[in-house]
Amino acid sequence: MSPGAAGGIRTPGVERLQAAPAQPADEEIDRSLRPRRLADFVGQRGVRDQLGVFIEAARAREEALDHVLLAGPPGLGKTSLAQIVANELEAPFVETAGPALERKADVAAFLTALEPNSVFFVDELHRLPRAVEETFYPAMEDRRLPITVGQGAGARVVTLDLPPFTLIGATTRAGLITTPLRDRFGVSFRLDLYDAADLATVVRRSARILEIAIDEEGAHAIASRSRGTPRVANRLLRRVRDFAEVRGGGRIDAELAHDALDLLEVDHAGLDRLDREILRTLCEKFGGSPVGLSTLAIAVAEEPHTIEDVYEPYLLQQGFLQRTPRGRQATAAAYAHLGLERPQGAASLF
Ligand SMILES: Nc1ncnc2c1ncn2[C@@H]1O[C@H](COP(=O)(O)OP(=O)(O)OP(=O)(O)O)[C@@H](O)[C@H]1O
Ligand SMILES: [Mg+2]
Repeated sequence: MSPGAAGGIRTPGVERLQAAPAQPADEEIDRSLRPRRLADFVGQRGVRDQLGVFIEAARAREEALDHVLLAGPPGLGKTSLAQIVANELEAPFVETAGPALERKADVAAFLTALEPNSVFFVDELHRLPRAVEETFYPAMEDRRLPITVGQGAGARVVTLDLPPFTLIGATTRAGLITTPLRDRFGVSFRLDLYDAADLATVVRRSARILEIAIDEEGAHAIASRSRGTPRVANRLLRRVRDFAEVRGGGRIDAELAHDALDLLEVDHAGLDRLDREILRTLCEKFGGSPVGLSTLAIAVAEEPHTIEDVYEPYLLQQGFLQRTPRGRQATAAAYAHLGLERPQGAASLF
């Protein structure tokens, strides 16, 4: 690949601060900061309140909770919520992911080993192979698992009864979940990006757990640049802490947080280097015209699905980007944010 065509090969580092994949150390911290109880789960009040009622009802009836589908961008708390449901139900938690379930037998192995009323969490549900997906239909609906025994002319289908269980599916791509699968979830939630007040609560909670000294304004400074995502807020908190330890006597206030985040190249709108590169590419390289996702991905040397899952939701929410039938397009706000002149004629497009 010629570096010019792809905009250069970017080294993993600061510019990847906000995007997946996480560094192993971050995953470790993610785990330690994960809320364990519904009461510790910040924000998403609608989801929290409804889940609270469903959990209480299931506990009272001593039955498994209905199957739950959780959709939303990375780092908003889907895995956390699934674990919380199991904790609140005091039920075993069994975890896998769509790509790990390659064959029907893989699903059968999980389902037949479940203890009654377990929570079975399937992450990246949209990556479940289609043939495997069909195995879930009778399992979810009637707790039945038809399996084929033997081969050729002697083959026959045996139906196994399954214990009651709750399937919790998580996806960053609700649009890719087929209708038959989606319809078998009794409950379906979409998690939204968090507002700054909720993220400040996440930052304060994490600071308490990690024993980091931070004041109210410092927490808000980090929250306002965390692109609506608790995982990003936690990550930025840790990076700012490093800065505080070296420069600020260990305490985080607004000034220190802003200085540290400037150094980390996270701007006041919460955009990191790749966010700005995406916008700059749309504005400058493509002159404000709509651009297809794959073309944009090549131009910024990133995977299309990373742009779609990780970067786009926040840029859309902040009004820097819009999706048109002809592709992605930078808005007037994007030009203003980058300090660029908008080309004549672009105004008529939006
Ligand atoms: N509502 C919340 N309150 C407090 N902390 C949260 C909340 N949501 C997420 N977090 C924090 O963010 C981290 C990431 O959340 P989680 O792993 O649950 O996200 P996810 O939606 O499963 O992401 P992915 O799609 O990448 O799997 C958690 O470890 C936790 O520390
Ligand atoms: Mg997850």
